[in-house]
Amino acid sequence: MVKLMRIIVEEDYQSMSKKAALLVAGQVLLKADTVLGLATGSTPLGMYKELVRMYQEGEVDFSAVKTFNLDEYYLLPPDDLQSYHYFMQENFFKHINIRAENIHLPDGMAADIEEECMQYEKAIEASGGIDLQVLGIGENGHIGFNEPAESLNVYTGLVNLTEETIKVNSRFFSSMEEVPQKALTVGMGTILKARRIILLASGEKKAKAIRDTVCGQVTTQVPSSFLQLHPDVTLILDQAAASLIVD
Ligand code: GLP
Repeated sequence: MVKLMRIIVEEDYQSMSKKAALLVAGQVLLKADTVLGLATGSTPLGMYKELVRMYQEGEVDFSAVKTFNLDEYYLLPPDDLQSYHYFMQENFFKHINIRAENIHLPDGMAADIEEECMQYEKAIEASGGIDLQVLGIGENGHIGFNEPAESLNVYTGLVNLTEETIKVNSRFFSSMEEVPQKALTVGMGTILKARRIILLASGEKKAKAIRDTVCGQVTTQVPSSFLQLHPDVTLILDQAAASLIVD
């Protein structure tokens, strides 16, 4: 079977994170005012840590970089410990020399959500578009918060999370009731417009989603399978996440 995606399989989480950081830093070296699309979740944490190290050692400069995050929970304030605003600030932004005005995340607290989503799309466009999009993947193949469904959103919008995702996310909240049921997410069309995409996955739990991403049919039931339609996608996996890929 011909696979259109570039697949890098690393020994473990640490070397996967290092490879991902090298690709991001390389992009910033090539184009100082790179527009990065960024993801949250536990998977890219190691990559952010490595990028912070590279910054501290003078290997990469984020002063002209712009970022657009993929998603944010609906109605979770930015200072909430589980918000993606907080996550990004704590794990990446506050440790590097990115300018505050160059950081963008969808605002899940906006009074007019539709307007917020439209403005987010416009801001991405006005920046010149995403040069490099970093993605994680949900166990059910969601990317950003584009969940398996009958149809997928093209543009940024408010979406309902699936029971499965709510359950997986509940590990970060003290009770099931506190887990947000809705989120704002960049749409599939916007993700696929990025010039280059890297997707990170680690661990056995992601193996099925990765198999379906790479070897399965393109279907809205596995949103990540749409990446097969993109001309420049690189998967960076550890061995466990790559274990079900068939030749
Ligand atoms: C959340 C995020 C996704 C992320 C996924 C996987 O649902 N919205 O962008 O890819 O979690 O998270 P983790 O890396 O923690 O498995």
